[in-house]
Amino acid sequence: MLTNTSRSYGSVARIFHWLTALLILSAIGLGLYAEDLPRDTDAAVATLVTIYSAHKTIGVAAFFTALARILWAITQPKPAPLHPERRAETFLGELIHWALYGAMLIMPLSGWIGHAAQAGFAPILWPFGQTLPFVAQSTDVAHLFEGVHKLSALVLYAAIGLHVLGALKHVVIDRDATMARMTRGTPAGEGRTRHGLGAPVAALAVWAMVIGGALALPSGPEAPAPVAQNQTSGNWQVSEGTLGFTVQQMGAAVGGSLPAWTAQIDYDAASGTGTVSVQIDTTQLTLGSVTDQAKGAEFFDTDAFPTATFTADLKRIDGSAHEAAGTLTLRGASVPLTLPFTLTIADDQATMAGEAVLDRRAFGMGESYPDESTVGFAVTVQVTLNATRQPAAADLGS
Ligand code: HEM
Ligand code: HEM
Repeated sequence: MLTNTSRSYGSVARIFHWLTALLILSAIGLGLYAEDLPRDTDAAVATLVTIYSAHKTIGVAAFFTALARILWAITQPKPAPLHPERRAETFLGELIHWALYGAMLIMPLSGWIGHAAQAGFAPILWPFGQTLPFVAQSTDVAHLFEGVHKLSALVLYAAIGLHVLGALKHVVIDRDATMARMTRGTPAGEGRTRHGLGAPVAALAVWAMVIGGALALPSGPEAPAPVAQNQTSGNWQVSEGTLGFTVQQMGAAVGGSLPAWTAQIDYDAASGTGTVSVQIDTTQLTLGSVTDQAKGAEFFDTDAFPTATFTADLKRIDGSAHEAAGTLTLRGASVPLTLPFTLTIADDQATMAGEAVLDRRAFGMGESYPDESTVGFAVTVQVTLNATRQPAAADLGS
């Protein structure tokens, strides 16, 4: 029979039970395994990424399975406890069932929100993208929900432990049909007891305390805020700007930022020509949760090459369309680079935005990733800035 009765679990409920159990136990296994893996070499990080990707992909599957399971359970009678006269035991059993229902949603959701808040590192392999529409990009949010995820895992361990011990007790000590109800669908019990509200309310209280506690706890030391150093000595003073880059990790886009740089810009609006020179402090770069790997010897090697430079001639192509053609020196390699950009000037304010695609191999980056399966070759660089025209006296350069 597909549906439940007050004495038995139908096949749909049983398949859902064992499928969620399998997915959740696999997610726990992979989560705990990944936690202890080394992260010292690039090969170790590649393994770590694969394990976490599997963890997240299975976790997201567990979320949708749980959602379907819960929607199904709402439409079904809940089989009555086998020994309603044992009040405390029945209450504990049901409390744990409700706690497990909570965990089925809270575990994957907290993991997913934490992941979405910090796009980058170990993508989810479902085609839903790596972000969530209502989750802002913020390392604080990511840390907060990682905290919820880790604390909730402790509740989940306890609930599963007691749940399995309880099931075993019914097999070994009571020798009743509790297990057979969930495995073979054998009907058992009187089927007349009404379920109280105590157990679901108590489970809700446990979860409210755990989530509230995790959100209220300080989420570790704050990383020092990067200092943008965008001063200039040219005839345009940069007031604000961003220098970002995007790489493909296992086929998913990961966005990074280079927040510390200085630029000297000389640009003559009449002729549409000028020069630019940019010094970038690579030691300040961030790339989601793989920042340390990006700074390492394999990629930016910021210990050996703390500064990257871009010097170029500026040329107006047509209207606001411009290009900066010059040389990017990064990681000791000097490579020609043309950056197309748009520039609009209103009063003495200039707004520019440009984007160019580099090949990491030209800079000797990621040589132990010779194909694109882990890290793509193309690196897209995005620049935006606002600048203010300096008073004419500064133009004279005297
Ligand atoms: C692998 C070990 C597991 C065993 C042996 C097991 C066994 C059982 C049994 C025998 C029942 C029926 C209890 C009754 O009729 O009163 C049950 C119900 C239940 N199990 Fe498990 N289970 C396992 C893992 C899990 C896991 C990992 C979860 C979820 C995280 C889970 C969630 C539930 C829930 C929510 C119910 C109540 C279903 C309902 O009445 O709506 N179980 N389990
Ligand atoms: C049923 C679903 C899930 C379960 C049972 C689960 C369980 C776990 C466990 C047991 C850990 C290790 C925690 C620790 O060592 O303290 C973990 C870590 C982690 N999980 Fe999940 N998880 C689930 C879903 C997800 C999802 C959907 C995502 C992301 C999309 C995710 C992302 C993570 C991350 C990033 C970590 C590492 C956290 C850290 O070390 O800071 N999890 N998870």
